[in-house]
Amino acid sequence: MNAKETQIKEDSMSIDEKVWLNGTLISRQAAVVPLLSHGFSRASAIFDVFRVYPGPGGPVAFRADAHIRRLMKTAELLGMKLAYGPGEILQAVKEAIRANDMQSGMVKILAYWGQETLLELVLDSPLDMAVFAIADDKPFDPEAVKPISACLSKWRKIHPETVPVGAKACANYLNGYLVRKDANSRGYDVGLSLGTDGFLAEGSIESVFIVKDNVLKTPPLGRILSSITRMSILEAAPQAGIAIREVPITAAEALAADEMFTSYTSIKVSPVARFEDHDLPAPGPVTRQVMELMNAILQFKDERFADWLQPLS
Ligand SMILES: Cc1ncc(COP(=O)(O)O)c(C=O)c1O
Repeated sequence: MNAKETQIKEDSMSIDEKVWLNGTLISRQAAVVPLLSHGFSRASAIFDVFRVYPGPGGPVAFRADAHIRRLMKTAELLGMKLAYGPGEILQAVKEAIRANDMQSGMVKILAYWGQETLLELVLDSPLDMAVFAIADDKPFDPEAVKPISACLSKWRKIHPETVPVGAKACANYLNGYLVRKDANSRGYDVGLSLGTDGFLAEGSIESVFIVKDNVLKTPPLGRILSSITRMSILEAAPQAGIAIREVPITAAEALAADEMFTSYTSIKVSPVARFEDHDLPAPGPVTRQVMELMNAILQFKDERFADWLQPLS
């Protein structure tokens, strides 16, 4: 997450904050694992994360059902067992939100083997689960999103035959960390990776879209995380008359794009103002249309997608 763009209280931890842990609400300070836990020492934890917005009748989540389904899918892809089903996880999210009196912020669901292991690599027990509901200092304002700069990373996206890239596994973020670090060290906000096949994949924690000749293009699934925001944009854009294509994109095509933006749950659409040494309109006309579409959905102004905002109270 781009620290400059988030209002989440990353560095302050109120003693009142509560975490739902395996069915019990505990303080955030108490929500810890042993250093030798499998989740920490073998990086076997998995997670999902989504944004919560203030709604007319209380907080609402952006497509919590899809995020919870993706968590279930992540566990399945890795042969791990979750201790809770989707309905129970949604209840846990609601409890965490209520306990923290949260109207706006981020929910992070983390599942992991909390038990200590030294050599044992494959565990069979169901994963522990923690649900964090972390409030914004002030409500997120989608209108205030700033354009970003992006570069092509020297690091390739993990090959899908080495680990399932569709799994939201903490271990996959070592790749994302390197990509972001590389970009930041070159003065860019975010890095975008090519796959080992040379086609554009995604950023560290964001999907990428380009616009060429008024067509909105994004890399196909299979090499990237199945992003809920990406899926939502692909579902909504055609209804605004925007032509979309999920298609392999070469580095040369990305460099010749008319417009580019990244997307992820926290900040729905971030226009790219500079890609490598190319200046781009940010937002360009198609990106602006996508931003307006997503912002209208988030502000309850688009009935067609009203069920994407799910009440949590
Ligand atoms: C690698 C990667 N790609 C894309 C995304 C965007 O996914 P979503 O829209 O579900 O937030 C994320 C978000 O965490 C990510 O980590």
